[in-house]
Amino acid sequence: MLTAKETRESFKSFFESKGHKIVPSAPMVIKDDPTLMFTNAGMNQFKDIILGNQPIKYARVADSQKCLRVSGKHNDLEEVGHDTYHHTMFEMLGNWSFGDYFKKEAIEWSWEYLVSVLKLDPNRLYATVFEGSPAENLERDNEAAALWAQFLPEERIINGNRKDNFWEMGDTGPCGPCSEIHIDLRPETERKEVDGLTLVNQSHPQVVEIWNLVFMQYNRKADGTLGELPAKVIDTGMGFERLCMALQGKTSNYDTDVFQPILKEIAKLGNTVYGKDAQQDIAMRVIADHVRTIAFSITDGQLPSNAKAGYVIRRILRRAVRYGYTFLGQKQAFMYKLLPVLIESMGDAYPELVAQKVLIEKVMKEEEDAFLHTLETGIRLLEKTMADVKAAGGTVISGKDAFTLYDTFGFPLDLTELILRENNMTVKLDEFDKEMQMQKERARNAAVVETGDWVTLREGNSEFVGYDHTECEVSILRYREITQKGKKLYQIVLDNTPFYAESGGQVGDTGTLTNEEETIEIVDTKKENNLAVHITKKMPQHPERVFKAAVDIKKRMATMANHSATHLLDAALRQVLGTHVEQKGSLVSSEGLRFDFSHFQKMTDEEIRKVEQLVNARIREDIQLVEYRNIPIAQAKDLGAIALFGEKYGDEVRVIKFDDSIEFCGGTHVSATGKIGFFKITTESSIAAGVRRIEAMTGERVEQLFYTIQDTLADLRTLFNNAPDLSVAIRKYIDENAGLKKQLEDFVKEKQILLKKRMVQNSTEVKGVQIIKYVGPMQADVVKNIAFQLRGEYPENLFFVVGSYDGEKPMLTVMISDNLVANGLNAGQLVREAAKLIQGGGGGQAHFATAGGKNPDGLAQAVDNILQQAEASF
Ligand code: ALA
Repeated sequence: MLTAKETRESFKSFFESKGHKIVPSAPMVIKDDPTLMFTNAGMNQFKDIILGNQPIKYARVADSQKCLRVSGKHNDLEEVGHDTYHHTMFEMLGNWSFGDYFKKEAIEWSWEYLVSVLKLDPNRLYATVFEGSPAENLERDNEAAALWAQFLPEERIINGNRKDNFWEMGDTGPCGPCSEIHIDLRPETERKEVDGLTLVNQSHPQVVEIWNLVFMQYNRKADGTLGELPAKVIDTGMGFERLCMALQGKTSNYDTDVFQPILKEIAKLGNTVYGKDAQQDIAMRVIADHVRTIAFSITDGQLPSNAKAGYVIRRILRRAVRYGYTFLGQKQAFMYKLLPVLIESMGDAYPELVAQKVLIEKVMKEEEDAFLHTLETGIRLLEKTMADVKAAGGTVISGKDAFTLYDTFGFPLDLTELILRENNMTVKLDEFDKEMQMQKERARNAAVVETGDWVTLREGNSEFVGYDHTECEVSILRYREITQKGKKLYQIVLDNTPFYAESGGQVGDTGTLTNEEETIEIVDTKKENNLAVHITKKMPQHPERVFKAAVDIKKRMATMANHSATHLLDAALRQVLGTHVEQKGSLVSSEGLRFDFSHFQKMTDEEIRKVEQLVNARIREDIQLVEYRNIPIAQAKDLGAIALFGEKYGDEVRVIKFDDSIEFCGGTHVSATGKIGFFKITTESSIAAGVRRIEAMTGERVEQLFYTIQDTLADLRTLFNNAPDLSVAIRKYIDENAGLKKQLEDFVKEKQILLKKRMVQNSTEVKGVQIIKYVGPMQADVVKNIAFQLRGEYPENLFFVVGSYDGEKPMLTVMISDNLVANGLNAGQLVREAAKLIQGGGGGQAHFATAGGKNPDGLAQAVDNILQQAEASF
């Protein structure tokens, strides 16, 4: 019986023997294609070759590709765990022909591999073929059917509709009819009772599709019509986990050696066994599936976050945590504990898992902890909602409340329903659906870049000449209109381009296209797969003419200095902090640089300074750039070049070397480090568990920073009368200030005693009540202190009323002894009434109240008013 590992290898060697070049899996997280977040099919990395935008390097290619189907057109997330054969992340074994062989070889080799090499029982195999679509003027795929007829009886060649047998990558792009191989894995007895034919494409867990052969010949355009591809292409994809299930004689993907070790560990953590309880089994499958996705995304450089791809990963992690919480009693972070087992089973094939173990564990644990906290807050909120509804005599909570729980607290509807059921309650489902629909609308509107079809002016491939030139003569190959966030823009593809397209963290170039009659501004340059697209707000009037393309040099130079500085920074960090430092992301622009890296604590001030000094020393050494433009990947590795996990590299790579800083890099760099000028770190912070971020600047920006600091210091010096030692002068000033403050407090205290004395001397008596009244300047806290001191001194029959002002701010204060309060007097009421006279308001308790206002001139009248009001009750 072949193990998973042997199966993967056997596929590759079979197609190698058929003249295919075996290429590595592209990263699962896509960084250079705005239309796709994750690799969802093996063909993604070849999209541009298929469309004819890139030259064909190898006409026959095969690989095993990590795929993720959790968003967009191909999304299996909700099925995962509930059935036994869908996954978020899975491996796709694929072979391709770009303009070389077509249906005949594709079909014959697939049969040869499955039946002759792997020895699968041919009686259990079925093939589907496209039945045609009159609406699109597409005929039944008789050619494929005839080829299958060599191996299969007529009745096991089944017609399939557009949904099942016409494969499309997305709403637009390469597509074509496909032919799927299905396998019936049921026991003989069951097969005798029900013919497998009737179960193909019926979501039966043991009658499943294992291999899809796509005969690409069309390009779906933005207006929905089909165009022809420049060459016919074979694109096949076989579900690796399903193939393992078939080969290992299992009836579920999860029973194979791909998943069993993880499932066993989950069961151990949950104190249960797999196969005992249906609900728990679902939970265990969800977790076993999702932990792979999360671990591999992190190794590809995609950390869970609040936006885009990061948010998708965060939600997958939360889905798993939630299943563990509800069905396996996991109230503490637990998924990160599965990593050692995952590494044991997949670490060989994917060494990045081993290399990044500590980081993955840290990130997972922190995410789990944070979500468990949110989950508990959500449960409390739901309990309150239920109590409120019950108190009002109801049993149904609103769909809006359920949606808030879903959206903010990650509560899937089924969890809310479960808790509600336990309390004999339900939720308004239609309301929930409506909210969900509205959110989807919002998300779609925010994300969508609408693209028109390419208008081709010339055939040809685009070449980047920007390592050597910042200006050159160009022609437009093709262009199209796009709408981004409601704005209309154009994308232009040039035959040659000096413009660097945003990638590897370096921003895209800006500049101009000019000829005698006009100048067009290029506002950005981006990459779509490997294609550089220049973005402009306006198309030239005569796009077919020749232009001079010129990059904004000043910006580009500053960007290059920052990019080279980033490499020196990376090397210095590894020297100062250790070789565990690994780049996790970067942003390089003309303004500065940002570098994210794995490291587990805050850098100390000394470490930061040491790194700066190392980088600046290397700048002063003026190290010459050594560029290896196209060297085989093995040679680059021999040079000791640092590669980035999650980055897509071809067979030939570019290496940038400044002495002992050697990195795989496609960016633009200074010719010698001296051009960087100077390097300064401005911030060091944390962006996730185990990931730190440094922001820094170079050259002219540091010069500006230096002047800002110098000017601030000069200002300070002037303020301190050009004191020779500014620190001493400031210290002296602070000390003096503290002394003066103390003196002032003593003075205020003395003054308070004096004022109080004078108030008492000036007091009058009406019907046995001691009336202390004052109108004049006084600070609010002084008035309050005096009032409370007097209250202590006169426990009975005191009526204290003050109209004070501090600057322009008038204030009324009333303090009354308790016995007068008992008689019915209320300080709060008294000030409230009188406050109108100072254009203000206030209140307080019955024995003490204050009011502020705007009109100090009304104070005397207000105080009299209070006394008049009060005297009536003495
Ligand atoms: N591109 C085809 C698929 O993903 C092979 O099914």
